Amino acid sequence: MDLVDSLFETARAAQMNAYAPYSRFKVGAAVLSSSGVVYGGCNVENVAYPVGICAETAAIAAMVCAGANQMSDILVFAEGDALVTPCGACRQRIREFAGGDARIHIAGPEGVRRTFTVDDLLPYAFGPENLA
Ligand code: THU
Repeated sequence: MDLVDSLFETARAAQMNAYAPYSRFKVGAAVLSSSGVVYGGCNVENVAYPVGICAETAAIAAMVCAGANQMSDILVFAEGDALVTPCGACRQRIREFAGGDARIHIAGPEGVRRTFTVDDLLPYAFGPENLA
């Protein structure tokens, strides 16, 4: 299977387990680490609304928990007609573990709709190299 297909299937499966009783908007995400392993995550909401986390954050946490800290691709899966791109906080979290040329794939049920680079969605980023 193509790597993007693998990301898509992982994100789609994760989306089904999303805990989103407040927004009713379920999101799945999958990241591809630089060593070629795929990690999934879903949004996990909370009755104290700001405490909820996004699917991208959960997928990144799964990757880091497994011992990896660089990724080449991330895919976001959600339903509806609109492109569901990562929120601002997640763009910064992605940038922590990905270079500006890493890819962010935005998918709906029919497949990938658009692919951006990290630089496209977070230009002139403040990244780890700023403190190096
Ligand atoms: N959400 C994500 O998990 N990822 C995104 O890229 C956009 C939004 C979640 C947060 C919240 O649980 C729900 O979608 C509605 O905003």
